[in-house]
Amino acid sequence: MGRRRVTIGGEAAGHGGPRHFERSHRASSSHTSRRCGSTLAGMFSRFRFLRRLITRKPGTETSALVVGSTGSGKSEGELVDLVRLADRRDCAVVLLDGHGPLAFAAASHWAARGHEPRIVYEPLDATDRVLGWGVLPRGSFADPARQRLEDAEAREGLSQCFMSQRNLTTLNDRGYTKEWLDAALSLCLSQPEPVPLPSLLAAFRVGTPEYERLLRSCGDPRTVAKFRDVEHVKRRNPVQYELFTSPARRLLELTCGSEVVRLRSRPGPFRWPEALRDRCLVAFDGGGIRSRELKRTVFLLVALAVIHAVRRHFAEARTPLPVVLVLEEAGALGLATPFVQLALQELRKAGVAIHLISQSSLDFGDPAFFQSLLGNAPRQIWYQCLSPADQELGAKALTNATFDPDAVHFTRVRSVPEGKSLASPWRARMRRVIDRYFKSPSLQEQEYRTRLATLRVGERLVRDRTGVRRERVRPLRPPRVPGGFETFTRAVIGRVRERPLYLPPLPPETSWHPEPLPDAAERLRVEAAEAGE
Ligand SMILES: Nc1ncnc2c1ncn2[C@@H]1O[C@H](COP(=O)(O)OP(=O)(O)OP(=O)(O)O)[C@@H](O)[C@H]1O
Ligand SMILES: [Mg+2]
Repeated sequence: MGRRRVTIGGEAAGHGGPRHFERSHRASSSHTSRRCGSTLAGMFSRFRFLRRLITRKPGTETSALVVGSTGSGKSEGELVDLVRLADRRDCAVVLLDGHGPLAFAAASHWAARGHEPRIVYEPLDATDRVLGWGVLPRGSFADPARQRLEDAEAREGLSQCFMSQRNLTTLNDRGYTKEWLDAALSLCLSQPEPVPLPSLLAAFRVGTPEYERLLRSCGDPRTVAKFRDVEHVKRRNPVQYELFTSPARRLLELTCGSEVVRLRSRPGPFRWPEALRDRCLVAFDGGGIRSRELKRTVFLLVALAVIHAVRRHFAEARTPLPVVLVLEEAGALGLATPFVQLALQELRKAGVAIHLISQSSLDFGDPAFFQSLLGNAPRQIWYQCLSPADQELGAKALTNATFDPDAVHFTRVRSVPEGKSLASPWRARMRRVIDRYFKSPSLQEQEYRTRLATLRVGERLVRDRTGVRRERVRPLRPPRVPGGFETFTRAVIGRVRERPLYLPPLPPETSWHPEPLPDAAERLRVEAAEAGE
């Protein structure tokens, strides 16, 4: 009988052929190291690894991008993270939840674990007691140039908050809107005392006492001169005045005219820098408000205040102020604005980590913008994605991080006659050859696409700097508390909102109606009368 030998690779066909020497060498060396693991030295090294694992201090929190279709388990996964962050006690958490259930559940778990003194809870539909903070911050720099720089940055951030309602990313092609929005912001930022946000609208109500008061106390003569000039235009031609100023006024009206903003944008005892330094757990619950634009603007104003506070702390103290900003439904609500992206890029050293949670990459609109977010999120978490566009993007990102040129797709065994035996009159000696066929990059990508499409609820693929791994989130059980989860949480929120940090209700605003514009015939009559004089 002919002897049979088995060879891996060999001169076989297929693209596996030339690679077999290197591969068989690698296989044998890994086998050796596995055997070493059972030796004494291997055991010691394992103990060292375990000790390091147990005594390891948690590193600083990194920014994360979470993508997954509705119902895939994103919020449950984030809840686990929120509880972990609270238990660490080394960073503040600001959660902006447009839907509400995540904020409610987080408050419940935080309180059940003894963090109640750190909780600040703000339901956006509340009108009795609300959290108020100076939305139009007043810097107090002795150097006028420094003050101007600070004002310019505040103006830039605030105008982005207003632009986002109209899904505008820039006002550069809307000259009058930009000019007059900046002018109104400059007027309110140059006041000796912080003014509430609705004062921005007063900048367009020429002749009213509030308008005169703003102009009288404005510290920037150039802005005052600009408003005085446009008063002449209004007297000469009211239509021309409207043409100049009404686009900016209309942009401000939706936000500044809203009760939700009016109540919260007055200077109050709540200070963002102090709250962040005290490692507060701040949750904004937008579940009671229907208007997406309003939620978006309020949340952007909060994000702006947080980023501004961290930036200033870092500039003054040169030490990070650890804050985790969680933006739930960031894509659909349009919370990923350029200033959030800038914070992702620049403020890691200052202590800011941002968790951006979205149902789909398509919610962000511009694909280039999503790519840039991916580029700045060291942790990427992919839950089940039902959209092919998300599967495509996710598979690309995950394959690039894990591509293995030695991954075997399948093997095939064949028998080949050995060298000289071919010429032998006797029976040929046969040798078995195992041919390996390797996975192409596109095949590995397709595998990820399939995995992303078929992940189960609560399963996720996590990519970080150490690699890619599959995880299964173990959802938190509702805390076992007296009276049940719902009653307990409502009682906690009630107690939190009784603190002096919250502002009492505000008297209703006196309504203001713009004077009607004269029609064309009347204006012609007046002009003719003036010309006749
Ligand atoms: N790890 C898990 N294990 C088991 N069930 C889970 C897990 N995570 C979530 N679920 C279930 O799936 C449901 C939906 O989860 P969740 O609200 O977190 O989804 P979501 O991705 O946030 O959806 P949406 O985008 O609509 O907010 C939950 O009500 C819960 O019952
Ligand atoms: Mg959710």
